[in-house]
Amino acid sequence: MKEDQPPLHYLHNHRHQKRTTISAEIAAIYGSKLTKATALFLLLFLTYVLGYLFSSPSCHPFSQPITTTNRATSAPPNPLDEFKITTQCSPPLPSNLIRQTILDKVYNGTSPYANFPPAHVSNLLRPKRIKGWGSNGAVFENLISRIKPKTIIEVGTFLGASAIHMAQKAEAKGLKPQILCLDDFRGWPGFQHRFKDIKMVNGDVLLLYQFMQNVVYMNRTESIIAVPFSTGSGLEKLCEWGIVADLIEIDAGHDFNSAWADINRAYKILRPGGVLFGHDYFTAADNRGVRRAVNLFAKINGLKVKVDGQHWVIDSV
Ligand SMILES: C[S@@+](CC[C@H](N)C(=O)[O-])C[C@H]1O[C@@H](n2cnc3c(N)ncnc32)[C@H](O)[C@@H]1O
Ligand SMILES: *[C@@H]1O[C@H](CO)[C@@H](O)[C@H](O)[C@H]1NC(C)=O
Ligand SMILES: *[C@@H]1O[C@H](CO)[C@@H](O)[C@H](O)[C@H]1NC(C)=O
Repeated sequence: MKEDQPPLHYLHNHRHQKRTTISAEIAAIYGSKLTKATALFLLLFLTYVLGYLFSSPSCHPFSQPITTTNRATSAPPNPLDEFKITTQCSPPLPSNLIRQTILDKVYNGTSPYANFPPAHVSNLLRPKRIKGWGSNGAVFENLISRIKPKTIIEVGTFLGASAIHMAQKAEAKGLKPQILCLDDFRGWPGFQHRFKDIKMVNGDVLLLYQFMQNVVYMNRTESIIAVPFSTGSGLEKLCEWGIVADLIEIDAGHDFNSAWADINRAYKILRPGGVLFGHDYFTAADNRGVRRAVNLFAKINGLKVKVDGQHWVIDSV
């Protein structure tokens, strides 16, 4: 997508050049016959018109249509508006249609657990290989008790530690939420140096399969299902399909930009009265940007950040 867009400086120069040459040509043709004042006026007028045309939103690949609120209130533009996620989500689906929607849209109508594991990896997987970070914190049980979620989205799943923990805590309370696990199941570059027992097959790190194997082992295939894509494209699609959740956990990329994008996208598909929460608000990873992203998001949206152990918690309004 980026390749299609000329760099900004090119557009600028191009626009500027065009404006001056055309104005100069017109001045050259008519200059001799008109009075100096008229020529000057004509020149200014044309410069204005051309400048307007070339900078109007329809000709400019980078600009967004100006919103009516900006125009009406004439408040100084907020530069953060440029970062807003403007996608319109579909009307929310009832929670009992969510699993089938994922099966249809992501898995062509067939459960990914059918005939699992496939023969070419079955001897490479461990029966159960679970490792997480703060994945059993009290925050999960606290929120499940309070919200009684029917749908949970986990953004960042890895081997499924926190997802399985949530399924167990919910069941213990007589709840059976559908848990969608959004992860590209690639880990991070070089993660296999710390997880040497997770095999690699022709560059595929087998995280999706080991996660599924863990879910199978723990008998949670009915409640836990992977949405194996990047958080950006995955959350965008969930919004487009009308999938909303009562509880959304953010635990994928921990740099500011990743956390910021995930939080903003996730908030769009949070049911009113639902809760957004995430890891690494109070750990060594703080400075990577999660806390800054959470605080900025809360500030801009007039929301309160609560802390539960290592996790941040934001209630929607
Ligand atoms: C810290 S781990 C999640 C741990 C899990 N919540 C737990 O407690 O057991 C982070 C995960 O986010 C995933 N991740 C990071 N950036 C991502 C992105 N942009 N899209 C999809 N997944 C991503 C990685 O693959 C990794 O599995
Ligand atoms: C998807 O499902 C349809 C209908 O069952 C089938 O014909 C098609 O081959 C499937 N596509 C893939 C990629 O499995
Ligand atoms: C899963 O279910 C099987 C059969 O119902 C049972 O033998 C096994 O102990 C269960 N495993 C877990 C981890 O609950």
